[in-house]
Amino acid sequence: MELRPLGKSGILVSPLGLGTVKIGRNRAVKYPGGDGFALPTDDHVVDLLRTAAHVGINLLDTAPAYGTSEDRLGALLEREDWLGGRDRWVICTKAGEEFDPATAESRYDFSPHTIHASVERSLRRLRTDHLDAVLLHSDGRDGWIMQESGAVEALESLASRGVTRTIGISVKSIEGWRAAIDRLATTGRGIVMTEFAPDEPEHQALALDSFTRGVGVLVKKGLASGHASDPASSIRAITSCPHVSSLIVGTLNPDHIRANAAAMSSV
Ligand SMILES: NC(=O)c1ccc[n+]([C@@H]2O[C@H](COP(=O)([O-])OP(=O)(O)OC[C@H]3O[C@@H](n4cnc5c(N)ncnc54)[C@H](OP(=O)(O)O)[C@@H]3O)[C@@H](O)[C@H]2O)c1
Repeated sequence: MELRPLGKSGILVSPLGLGTVKIGRNRAVKYPGGDGFALPTDDHVVDLLRTAAHVGINLLDTAPAYGTSEDRLGALLEREDWLGGRDRWVICTKAGEEFDPATAESRYDFSPHTIHASVERSLRRLRTDHLDAVLLHSDGRDGWIMQESGAVEALESLASRGVTRTIGISVKSIEGWRAAIDRLATTGRGIVMTEFAPDEPEHQALALDSFTRGVGVLVKKGLASGHASDPASSIRAITSCPHVSSLIVGTLNPDHIRANAAAMSSV
């Protein structure tokens, strides 16, 4: 898989990334079949990581809101050093959302103090001294989070200390994507995670604008959380946009990783 630049950061990412919600959380999710699937065993997660590495994936997307995902990734990458260790992978995590498995509800806090504390906890859980990307895990108030909460400034301060190489936001709207380009382009290390419909001219225009202004684009939910009718066609359509750095696909199935990578190779 030919690697692509992640904005202006100098980081190169595989155009297909591995989403890790399902390795740590099985409540309040929108996958076919809903909640209640069994979380994978450690051996199963190792198999997923091995398969991802084998097909050339280097990008892992996680979050505190994905239950035990960060902790499991950190422990397994440390234990299974033949997987290449921490530095083989580009690790993207988030801050601002906390998911409570007891109530299956999220709460959000974008205050600078909470963002700092969350990132320090992510470092401990992931057993690393630096992150490659930290994104604000938006609850839908994309503009307010970026303009008024102080959260972007908190991330800039962490980046200036070398705690994270890039910063950004996972947005919930087109307006949020547009605002993210304006807010993050000036930082020189901005990333936006967004849904992306390749047949929408406005999405293509925003992807181009992001690329031109040095903001990396990560695409989420490209398979409509498992409801896409033709996953290979969706993967090809999204990743054939040269202004998308990577499409993050979540899966617990190594065969799906292989099939998705094969779909990529025909782009
Ligand atoms: N920041 C945010 O706000 C946010 C929100 C949502 C997601 N994300 C990130 O984006 C990632 C992807 O989003 P997502 O997991 O919601 O949705 P997605 O990637 O659109 O879809 C994942 C679903 O597709 C299925 N799948 C994968 N490959 C397949 C294939 N070849 N054939 C058939 N089914 C296939 C998976 O099931 P199997 O397990 O059976 O393969 C899984 O249920 C997440 O894991 C997460 O890292 C971020």
